[in-house]
Amino acid sequence: MINYADRLQRLPPYIFADLEKLQDDLVKKGVDIISLGIGDPDFPPPRIITESLKNSLTEPGSSNYSTSAGEDYFRNAVAEWYKRRFNVIVDPTSEVCALIGSKEGLANVGRVLLNPGDKALLPDPGYPVYAQGSTILSDATPVIFNLTDDAFQPDLSKVQVDDRTKLLFLNYPSNPTGATIAKDKLESTVEFCRKHNLVLCYDNAYSEICFGSYQSPSVLQINGATECAVEFNSCSKIFNMTGYRIGFAVGNKKIIAGLKKVKTQIDSGSPKFVQRAATTALNEYFDFDLSTERKMNNKILKERLDSLVQGLREIGIETKSPNATFYLWANVGDGATFVRELLKLGVVATPGRAFGLNGAKHVRFSVTQSTTRINEALQRMRRLDLR
Ligand SMILES: Cc1ncc(COP(=O)(O)O)c(C=O)c1O
Repeated sequence: MINYADRLQRLPPYIFADLEKLQDDLVKKGVDIISLGIGDPDFPPPRIITESLKNSLTEPGSSNYSTSAGEDYFRNAVAEWYKRRFNVIVDPTSEVCALIGSKEGLANVGRVLLNPGDKALLPDPGYPVYAQGSTILSDATPVIFNLTDDAFQPDLSKVQVDDRTKLLFLNYPSNPTGATIAKDKLESTVEFCRKHNLVLCYDNAYSEICFGSYQSPSVLQINGATECAVEFNSCSKIFNMTGYRIGFAVGNKKIIAGLKKVKTQIDSGSPKFVQRAATTALNEYFDFDLSTERKMNNKILKERLDSLVQGLREIGIETKSPNATFYLWANVGDGATFVRELLKLGVVATPGRAFGLNGAKHVRFSVTQSTTRINEALQRMRRLDLR
């Protein structure tokens, strides 16, 4: 008889299970599926990155273990990128840690900071790893704060804190809402965390998927942030390197040291050839060709978002095109039913409930398919009976 640990049983049911089963059945029947579900860019990584990967594969030592904290050259590149991109100076040795994707770091930071029975504050709707991979799997309790106003901003005056509350997760540009945050709101969040002795885990995974004149800030630009904050980012969305699994945590020395300590017991780091490719990516970020390619990709994403907004409006679903991310968050009344109906037409979207109770009425579309496929999805959606 196999018994799972209590913490595994406390994980909520896997909300995608039904959906995956339905999707599999349709694929088996030969249905042409258009996936606007997962947030995985359809653009390839820029060529300079794949070339760097190929070259580093044959470098002596590239097949050996790395370290869980990451190679010096990678941490130096992260520190240099923070300096040029955000004007933030960090020490690559004590204030930067490599991650096997930022999801890994977001999950492991719970092990660093939460005792059984402690509480972590997290946004609803929000990326599920904060509540589940990080908090529940650390035997702690997720406590949500609502992002239900029009701009999906936190109202910290309504957040209850007690002496078991240790962490606050925040994510802008936001998955799933696409909302962004203004610097003064970040300032008040840092102040709140310092006042209540909370660690601020700031998830900036979409910092470079921004449109028009909007530039996503780093929490580390805020005065006093290094006393309480750690920021997570990754090469996944910046450079379309999702499958490479390379990210980074930057910030407070004690949190970074704790993260390194946890990771030494769990992993041996991203492969060195991946860290080399990521180093090239970060070093070349400001290079003319690479930045032109990134801007072009962002322009395409924004056009797709705008045309999806327009197409949804034509079938009676009102939503706003976001200033950042490749997600469109739409109130459809009952997200789960809508997604099920959509699936019958061969279109996959994510039910908002996957991001918390506040998402129950919503659906999240990810515009990570070609414009032609998105238009095809819209054509199919016109067949939906929305009465
Ligand atoms: C908000 C947010 N944070 C973090 C991640 C994790 O990304 P990765 O582990 O690829 O860096 C994702 C992935 O979709 C995300 O949406």
